[in-house]
Amino acid sequence: MDATDMGQDLKSILVDEAELDQRLTEMAAEIDRDYVGREILLVGVLRGAIMVMADLSRKIHTPLKMDWMAVSSYGSGTKSSGVVRILKDLDNDVHGKHVLIVEDIIDSGLTLSWLRKNLESRGAASVQIATMLRKPEAAKVEVDVAYVGFEIPNEFVVGYGLDYAENYRHLPFVGTLAPHVYGG
Ligand code: IMP
Ligand code: MG
Repeated sequence: MDATDMGQDLKSILVDEAELDQRLTEMAAEIDRDYVGREILLVGVLRGAIMVMADLSRKIHTPLKMDWMAVSSYGSGTKSSGVVRILKDLDNDVHGKHVLIVEDIIDSGLTLSWLRKNLESRGAASVQIATMLRKPEAAKVEVDVAYVGFEIPNEFVVGYGLDYAENYRHLPFVGTLAPHVYGG
């Protein structure tokens, strides 16, 4: 999928493919520096984080394993509900593991602050967070994020794993939607 397939639905490209790739290379290098001598358990948050997981993990040299969790906080709208439910739990026991949560975006931060506490309570040796995107609202919540790709404005974005009503996840860049798409 590319911009031309979006027609009038795409407002603008916020972060293009080259920028995503370049930043992921830098993040992977930081992660390699921080995790010397340790094995990482990458925990991808389904479904938005699939692209970040695939691309970031392939740039990391440190030994790692991958696991996935699915949580719900959004439904098909554009506002955080604040309610977090586990739809799919991890397959691995995280006890004693160095967990690195991989996220697509932090908006209110509610999902991640809940997830981090949850994984810490299972006895993980450490829990850190890597996110491709972060919105300004997230700054209001006490969640310490070790690796942030891009700070973006408080606008609803799609692409690179992020959806609107399950659409546009396979856009290779991050873009904003024209208001007519979501009736705004
Ligand atoms: P939070 O709990 O408000 O931080 O929401 C986190 C989750 O909401 C993310 O993992 C996304 O799945 C979803 N989300 C937040 N902002 C956007 C957006 O702009 N576009 C698409 N999904 C979003
Ligand atoms: Mg998500």
